[in-house]
Amino acid sequence: MQEVNKLIREAAEKAKRETDAEPEPQLVGEVTWPVEVKIGKGLEGAIACTTKVGYVNGSKGWLIYRGYNIFDLAEYSSFEETCYLLLYGKLPTQKELDEFNAKLVANRAVDKAVIDVLKMIPTAKTHPMSALRTAVSVLGTLDEKAEETTVEAEREVAIKLIAKMATIAAAIARIRKGEEPVEPDSSLSHAGNFLYMMSGKKPDPTFERIMDVALILHADHGMNASTFTTMVVNSSLSDMYSSVVGGICSLKGPLHGGANERVLYDLEEIGDPSNVEAWFRKARETKRKVMGFGHRVYKAYDPRARILSPLAKLVSEKDPANKKLYETAVKLDEIVCKELGVEKKVFPNVDFYSGIVYRSMGIETAMFTPIFAVSRVSGWTARALEYLAENRIFRPRAVYTGPVKADYVPIDKR
Ligand SMILES: CC(C)(COP(=O)(O)OP(=O)(O)OC[C@H]1O[C@@H](n2cnc3c(N)ncnc32)[C@H](O)[C@@H]1OP(=O)(O)O)[C@@H](O)C(=O)NCCC(=O)NCCS
Repeated sequence: MQEVNKLIREAAEKAKRETDAEPEPQLVGEVTWPVEVKIGKGLEGAIACTTKVGYVNGSKGWLIYRGYNIFDLAEYSSFEETCYLLLYGKLPTQKELDEFNAKLVANRAVDKAVIDVLKMIPTAKTHPMSALRTAVSVLGTLDEKAEETTVEAEREVAIKLIAKMATIAAAIARIRKGEEPVEPDSSLSHAGNFLYMMSGKKPDPTFERIMDVALILHADHGMNASTFTTMVVNSSLSDMYSSVVGGICSLKGPLHGGANERVLYDLEEIGDPSNVEAWFRKARETKRKVMGFGHRVYKAYDPRARILSPLAKLVSEKDPANKKLYETAVKLDEIVCKELGVEKKVFPNVDFYSGIVYRSMGIETAMFTPIFAVSRVSGWTARALEYLAENRIFRPRAVYTGPVKADYVPIDKR
């Protein structure tokens, strides 16, 4: 594990050298509503709420959960501890972490009805994110406490969801391969058990640690589309299962979480580092977006990509095909940064290297976005809970640009 920690530390030091040394966010303190902001298309610049959950400084490439720098969390924390931090707002004591872990472990198993529904889904034609959405929806119908919408009740649901999403995603991965789902192993960590339930084999310790880091890195990221969707659904006092189903639906898209699998398809299409230059030229000519690059908020190198890049190198090294994928990715990274980085501040995002990490662990490409969801459910629920405490239903407006005085013509006269 020391090797993984060393790579994270080196990535942190590189980030320090290339950006500002220490995150010193300009905190605004109390916000007095209403605030005046300039809003762009896609709600760019809009402020929906205040939060203490996490902070992204896109121009400097900083990511902070509850005050803790992502590099420190990746090096020192675990996914379980990070979930506690996001949900409760502080790092746990050992006793609190043990209790929280025990609760997660106790909630890992899912009802047979969920597995039965998953087995009814035609896997060859269905994206695993659609299967995940369906399974979480079924899960909600089986929880008699689902309709309780106090912060305390919803936090309990959040913990159940964090625990069970990994089990469901792993079951989807196996059913897709025509294999029986594997029961959770209570002796393993969340990341280790997730890998075990996908493969049926006790995980390699390096893979377990790297999966743990990947889950930490994906846990929260500001008011991204899926987090906002989760919060919008929850703000009508719907229920946490419905809200998380909304988050899954939003994350599925290729402009959001779905980009990680598209990256792999692109890298496979490129085939070899020597083809990168020509492929990229063509992409520019045809105005094709390069998957895994660009971000609404980051206008600098994404710190999560900084961490995942050396980890992708580490895990891909043993297999020649994966090594070639990594080398192709590095070449594409260099060319895109040199051109789009300079012209448009487009740099690699979290999705660019995560796929190579998962591929090297033997995970099917279509499962990459569900892995994102297995982690991000922590950020979705943490922010939905924070907002619920002082809830006000979300209700923006649209500028109407259509006609206002159309004469109704009967159908037989049209
Ligand atoms: C993430 C994303 C949706 C952000 O979209 P956005 O906030 O609307 O950003 P914009 O499209 O306004 O980007 C600004 C400019 O950079 C270009 N750009 C952004 N991402 C690009 C990419 N991946 N490849 C090529 N050009 C890109 C845009 O075309 C635009 O150029 P223009 O000013 O000439 O029109 C967008 O960068 C994208 O589609 N990336 C690929 C998908 C991806 O990796 N998503 C995961 C995000 S974590």
